[in-house]
Amino acid sequence: MTIKAALLGFGTVGQGVYEAINSHREQLTKRLNNEVEIVAVLIKNPNKKRDIDPAVLVTTDFEEILAIPGLEVVFEAIVGEEPGFSYCLRAVEKGCHVITANKVMFAKYGKILLKKAKEHGVRIGYEATTAGGVPVIRTIEQQLQVNDIQKVEAILNGTSNFILTEMREKQLPFEKALARAQQHGYAEADPGHDIKGKDAFYKLMILSQLVFGSQPRWDQVEVKGIDRLTPADIEKAGRKGLRYKHIAELYRYGNTLKASVKPVLVAADHALYAIEGVNNAVTIYASLIGSITLSGPGAGKFPTASAMIEDFASGYGRLPQLV
Ligand code: HSE
Repeated sequence: MTIKAALLGFGTVGQGVYEAINSHREQLTKRLNNEVEIVAVLIKNPNKKRDIDPAVLVTTDFEEILAIPGLEVVFEAIVGEEPGFSYCLRAVEKGCHVITANKVMFAKYGKILLKKAKEHGVRIGYEATTAGGVPVIRTIEQQLQVNDIQKVEAILNGTSNFILTEMREKQLPFEKALARAQQHGYAEADPGHDIKGKDAFYKLMILSQLVFGSQPRWDQVEVKGIDRLTPADIEKAGRKGLRYKHIAELYRYGNTLKASVKPVLVAADHALYAIEGVNNAVTIYASLIGSITLSGPGAGKFPTASAMIEDFASGYGRLPQLV
């Protein structure tokens, strides 16, 4: 039987999921023993031209999507807390699995959604919310449950890392490097979230919930972006063999959690020094493993689509998950 899926949002990520499901139809069918069909796409602007099969329901009305008989999975690729949260919640309550890339929404409502999903016997996949194509959520969920995790240190915003790399390697001015990140589809619709550190902050909060089961108070987390760094700062650091990296850090301090997101100068022996371009990396320090660094593309159409599709395919039929 065909697995019926709906796609919420048709921006960079939504298009990536749509195209990847079509281009990897055979592989998906082999993995799931069933075909996956995108039967509906939720859009915002009905007047925009889109390359979507005419057999697919394209609508601005979420109710129409929820009413599809036998809908099994919803890929949520819209931006912001609402209506993302309400749509995910309603999909779960209707008995659909939900795969989301929405970090702003999930940082705040992930705990509620995971609990609801458990109650309704469905799965919420959120691998794509954090570090793009890097399978960090899965690694922590499946391979680091006995270890005591002491600290996480990460590059979580592809746009910022790309800008810093372009400024250093090609001596591009900040604005030009940002424009290139936007052309590549790395930046958010509002790139302020990327360059001011907000995007990395949300991702760090998602990691905090998973690793420590809670989050630090948001107003106590220091959040700074890369937007204040000048080409002169970057060049001066380079002359000393140092690099600026936008680093998100999280650790337990006594009974409290400490977190920060800010540009940090690192030397060549630092685990994140060599992470360049759009790549993200997450270093986890833990009791048994010592330290492990996962790295790979942190943003972009297909790496993010890859995270969503693999998340769906590997979790399908395998319940429950950690809450
Ligand atoms: N704008 C985000 C980034 C996209 O640059 O990392 C991936 O979440």
